Amino acid sequence: MTSWIDVGSDADIPLRGARRLLIGQTPVAVFRAGDGALFALIDRCPHKHGPLSEGIIHGRTVTCPLHNWQISLDTGHALGADTGCTPTLQVASRDGRVLVDVAPLMLAAS
Ligand code: FES
Repeated sequence: MTSWIDVGSDADIPLRGARRLLIGQTPVAVFRAGDGALFALIDRCPHKHGPLSEGIIHGRTVTCPLHNWQISLDTGHALGADTGCTPTLQVASRDGRVLVDVAPLMLAAS
């Protein structure tokens, strides 16, 4: 089951940029890597819940602004010697709009 919601236009998320939104009580970060690919992760670092949406994007990785852990945008996993994972969500671009599948959040809340 999927449940896509429109979170804005393509232009709202620049290259190497992010947008933070709340889905219910859950913060979600939508990222655009330097190659244009979109990613959506829960906006909580697996270390101490830092806001990944405020981190620096390099390649397909974001560096958390609090303690510099590097998180894979593809998988949500911490890289290097660090361990932990933040959940990812499906994201797509259709007709100039960015869509996020929030079905996993709805299942978690029920
Ligand atoms: S909260 Fe992200 S590295 Fe510590």
